[in-house]
Amino acid sequence: MVIDELITLGLNFLKKEEFNNPPLELRLILAKLLNVDKSYIYSHGERQVTKDIENQFMEMVKKRSKGYPIQYILGEKEFMGLDFYIEDGVLIPRPDTEILVEYIINFINRYYKGDRINVLDIGAGSGAISLSIAKYCPGAYVYGIDIDDAAIKVSNINKERFDLSNVELLKGDLFEPILRLNMQNEFQIIVSNPPYIPKEEIEQLQSEVKLYEPKLALDGGIDGLNFYRKITEDAKKLLIKNGLLIYEIGYNQGKQVSNILDNEGYKNINILKDLQGRDRVAMGFSFDCEL
Ligand SMILES: C[S@@+](CC[C@H](N)C(=O)[O-])C[C@H]1O[C@@H](n2cnc3c(N)ncnc32)[C@H](O)[C@@H]1O
Repeated sequence: MVIDELITLGLNFLKKEEFNNPPLELRLILAKLLNVDKSYIYSHGERQVTKDIENQFMEMVKKRSKGYPIQYILGEKEFMGLDFYIEDGVLIPRPDTEILVEYIINFINRYYKGDRINVLDIGAGSGAISLSIAKYCPGAYVYGIDIDDAAIKVSNINKERFDLSNVELLKGDLFEPILRLNMQNEFQIIVSNPPYIPKEEIEQLQSEVKLYEPKLALDGGIDGLNFYRKITEDAKKLLIKNGLLIYEIGYNQGKQVSNILDNEGYKNINILKDLQGRDRVAMGFSFDCEL
């Protein structure tokens, strides 16, 4: 079969749904299998492909037709201009999280440019947040923690992929690995994009997420706020005075997470919104702060 025929076959199989883009995705899948650029697929429609490639292609197309995320099929997701390796079992980095990371990078450049500072990322996943900060802020030394083996494996692969030496990925529950290192009051910034979906809402998420992404990365307990409560309380022991605690939050959690920060004594609490005007980031500073 030639490339164009295979794409047509795929189009008959993979129907357009709300969450997919069959013409593009089929070309991306085939480009990956042939180890070529997507543009090659457009310009080489007459190229013959082997039976083996045909079979692999159709296997991937079938998986995709059941909602299996395209990013897991391709094994890659672009985030902050970096191509992250990802695989089953690890949350796919979301474009919304770039708002949080961009804020932190600007904050470091503004207040700590060139300084050697410590940053802690709780729930590192693929390393999207930890590694982007390490990459764009070479003065920062970033510790990324995750409780999940798959996350530690994948984030370490990405650390090597981006050739970073200013980041360390530690396995453990929340702050436990850092407390073991005795790093009390040594962090200028603590960041987290924790699991924040209320337990009961997980069933209502689109099937791509609900069926295939790890529950451990989504489930924030009954009201979705469990991790914000725990992290906000314990972060005080690890932050320097005027240290920044900053979170990604759900679109309707701004008020509640602000209250949690306020109750724990953080100052200069602020919410950032996404382009749709929904709450996306919450932050506060340990003790009084002029920043
Ligand atoms: C929403 S994901 C965020 C992943 C990544 N930081 C990102 O933004 O793409 C939350 C992460 O928290 C991790 N996690 C869940 N419970 C944890 C715990 N008790 N301690 C450390 N990490 C945990 C999950 O394994 C998952 O990787």
